[in-house]
Amino acid sequence: MTEPIRQPARRRFLTFAATLPAALGLSVGGAEAQQAMIPTASDMEGPFYISNMPVVTSLNRFGKSGEAMRIAGRVMNASTPETPVAGARLEIWQTDGTGRYYPEQNGDYSDFSDADLDLRGTVIADADGYFEVLSLFPKEYWPRPPHIHYRISADGFRPLITQHYLDTRPRDRPHRTANVIRDQTPALYPAPTIYIAPV
Ligand SMILES: [Fe+2]
Repeated sequence: MTEPIRQPARRRFLTFAATLPAALGLSVGGAEAQQAMIPTASDMEGPFYISNMPVVTSLNRFGKSGEAMRIAGRVMNASTPETPVAGARLEIWQTDGTGRYYPEQNGDYSDFSDADLDLRGTVIADADGYFEVLSLFPKEYWPRPPHIHYRISADGFRPLITQHYLDTRPRDRPHRTANVIRDQTPALYPAPTIYIAPV
């Protein structure tokens, strides 16, 4: 049984968003809780997105072997200070530990046999915008570090496609996050807090 992730993970979330300047007329003079945020940057969808995957508690739907990991994060409303997006829908997909996607095709859940769809699934954020899911550490494939693809959507918000980079080695490039909590089993990889924008 894993420990609750909320408080320890919350303190360690990386935030890729930047605060909007006071020139835009927003209240930025007070506590951080009073700041709205720039939406999280989109990133390439990449190949092999499958729509309408079932809701899962583990992306490793069929128990493939590999390095177990847990992913956790939070989805927030970029336009208002410290407001979570309750019930945000996160469609997540990644490779296994050998660098393969299942399947290595695009499409919809209905186009495939369920057994051919793995290392992917839908995760629903809770009432406070938090989400978590079990998985396996993905393999990097040239030229990028290990990564996890996300498509985030919620009623009243613009869908966002982005990626969570997992490189744990020191690098100069700022998008290569080195954020892993190994004193939990399985190791916890907090995703950067995701800020999505209303329609
Ligand atoms: Fe990819």
